[in-house]
Amino acid sequence: MLKMDTFEEIRVKGFADEYIDPSLDLFAEIEKLKKEKNAIILAHYYQESDIQDIADYIGDSLGLSQQASKTDADVIVFAGVHFMAETAKILSPQKKVLLPDSKAGCSLADSCPPHLFKKFKEQYPDHLVITYVNCTAELKALSDIVCTSSNAIQIVESLPPEQGIIFGPDRNLGKYVAKKTGRNLVLWNGACMVHEIFSREKITRLKERYPAAKFIAHPECEDSILDMADYIGSTTGLLNYSTKNAAQEFIVATESGILHQMQRDNPTKTFIPAPPNNSCACNDCPHMKRNTLEKLYLCMKNELPEIFVPADIIAKAVKPIERMLEISARLGL
Ligand code: 13P
Ligand code: SF4
Repeated sequence: MLKMDTFEEIRVKGFADEYIDPSLDLFAEIEKLKKEKNAIILAHYYQESDIQDIADYIGDSLGLSQQASKTDADVIVFAGVHFMAETAKILSPQKKVLLPDSKAGCSLADSCPPHLFKKFKEQYPDHLVITYVNCTAELKALSDIVCTSSNAIQIVESLPPEQGIIFGPDRNLGKYVAKKTGRNLVLWNGACMVHEIFSREKITRLKERYPAAKFIAHPECEDSILDMADYIGSTTGLLNYSTKNAAQEFIVATESGILHQMQRDNPTKTFIPAPPNNSCACNDCPHMKRNTLEKLYLCMKNELPEIFVPADIIAKAVKPIERMLEISARLGL
């Protein structure tokens, strides 16, 4: 794998300072590059609205992995964060995988350094390891099955009840899954900076102001927030719920990018982002929001930054990801 400083050199040489003619129609240019290079743009719901609008596929982490595993494009442009692009590379090592900003990382993935997790795992030699996809390729290589927020409950339930399980890196998702399945999971103590920012007090006040509103939350939120929710689900789950449910108002506890699709699919409904617990930070993911339409254009034009994963890590990490995809396909997820 290229080291981060090598990525930086590529980023700086490749495109960081490149001038873009402001009169250029970036949407048209990106469409042209897509055809020329047989490229597909996969975007997570947390990307800025312009990127969601130009993407070939927008989805949650499970949907994006499924698309990455079956695309016949030559180039996958991953409008998301590093672990997502890395997962695409692991599933399609022969393809070129690009990430618009090489610094688009993830606080949750960072909260679980593989060398420390390896030591943690050694304390439970009889346990199987389920890791949330929001982690590094090295961590996936230490795992038995990967999961996402769409299928974590079903992945845990796919193992026999007496099987000991280590679950990482997200302690909030882990606690939620343990509660739903009645299983005693050994949890790694990691978390996402965006989903831990919501204020129970402010949400309570907002619910009083909008008594008919449904409060919906992502399972990466703390249990004190999830306890208040009418519905808990992945970003796709939250989007589908907001479309199918008859309510006209929704208070949404997840990254604010999802509101773009919610509003687009439901123009007459009102979506209110759940308030954070301080006045300056907001529920935008600073990593996801590093990608911009300009960087997307330059990344496609220059085919940089490109994602690389060492072959030995790919060989180990692909198995738990494929196991997740097989279980999800079997269950129609
Ligand atoms: P999902 O895509 O599974 O909803 O997870 C959200 C997230 O935090 C991605 O970084
Ligand atoms: Fe990571 Fe949280 Fe950002 Fe998702 S929202 S990329 S889990 S920091």
